[in-house]
Amino acid sequence: MPAFAEARVDLDVISANVAALRERAPNSHFMGVVKADGYGHGMIPAARAMLAGGATWLGVAFIEEALEVRRAGIDTPLLAWIVPPGAPIGAAIEAGVELGISDPWVLDATVAAARAAGRPARVHLKADTGLNRGGITREGWPEVVEAAARAEAAGVLQVTGVFSHLARADEPADPGARDSVQAQLDAFDEALALADKAGLRPEVRHIANSAALLTRPDSHFDLVRPGIAAYGLSPMPDLRDIGVRPAMTLAARVALVKRVPAGSGVSYGHRYVTDRETTLALVPLGYADGVPRAASNIGPAALGGRRHVIAGTVCMDQFVLDVGNDPVEAGDEVVLFGDGENGVPTAQDWAEALGTIPYEIVTRVGVRVPRTYRSGAVS
Ligand SMILES: Cc1ncc(COP(=O)(O)O)c(C=O)c1O
Repeated sequence: MPAFAEARVDLDVISANVAALRERAPNSHFMGVVKADGYGHGMIPAARAMLAGGATWLGVAFIEEALEVRRAGIDTPLLAWIVPPGAPIGAAIEAGVELGISDPWVLDATVAAARAAGRPARVHLKADTGLNRGGITREGWPEVVEAAARAEAAGVLQVTGVFSHLARADEPADPGARDSVQAQLDAFDEALALADKAGLRPEVRHIANSAALLTRPDSHFDLVRPGIAAYGLSPMPDLRDIGVRPAMTLAARVALVKRVPAGSGVSYGHRYVTDRETTLALVPLGYADGVPRAASNIGPAALGGRRHVIAGTVCMDQFVLDVGNDPVEAGDEVVLFGDGENGVPTAQDWAEALGTIPYEIVTRVGVRVPRTYRSGAVS
């Protein structure tokens, strides 16, 4: 392990997770979502591991991310779905990056960029079927599919996909959420029918994220688009066992230990006070590294196979564990989260302690923390 801390990523685990997830949607293409630096795991290694596991597409949020994938020499079909004003659309077209069209202005800008580039843009039209985030509204959809069909006929556009995104797929036990998913699937069918009527014949229709991949086979269409499950974490707090393993372990080395008497206030604000003579271990990871300050006095960590809770305030670069009389010395390994074996907490445990979701825990691991990779096949 590097001197102070590391995020260890097991790429074989990512590949195995993808292979296991593919079995749940055997007739659909598999778009591995690697945005946000591969959910904190490292975008390029994660992308390669997903491809090794059987992914046939890759998905990112931004064109800049997609261009980085291309620069790494990965030529798999690749979709970038957030195109803000000023985005490098021309560069995306040149690099063969497919673009999500979430608003009429994006279609216009993409057609203009394709004309300038002298080659057609490959696009996926995004229908807003009820998330009310990105995507073309039901009212705007007929006009957009007509315009896209005209641009296709003019040879400046290829509509390779039509897609949407679900709002409540991660609550499969909630009848209201199930109704919401059904309403979105119905609206998606309508959007697809209108696209078809306009003469569009997309290669891939897609709406399923990890949760829908796992719980709604009727949402799989031609392609599924999971992120979190490929990294081994469940999108559904009530359904932890989804047949995958967490790929990332966040670990640090104890920087120093000290013995203190009962009544010692610990860290900023003395928000933790020792109730007996005890040993404190200093762990060199802080909120700059993605350990939320909100984890003060609640975040779990394992040391020598035993679970502890952070003592006092998480600082920018460090926090403290009160380990009682457990033997500990500088250099010992502390695991904040990992695969859940041998007393090690998971990112899901962190999410539950903090009232958030595991996505936020893994994506926030800071740039100062070196990622190290283990893999038999990929590096
Ligand atoms: C459009 C889109 N598709 C798919 C995903 C993957 O979702 P998940 O990580 O829940 O599988 C995301 C992630 O937020 C997304 O924004």
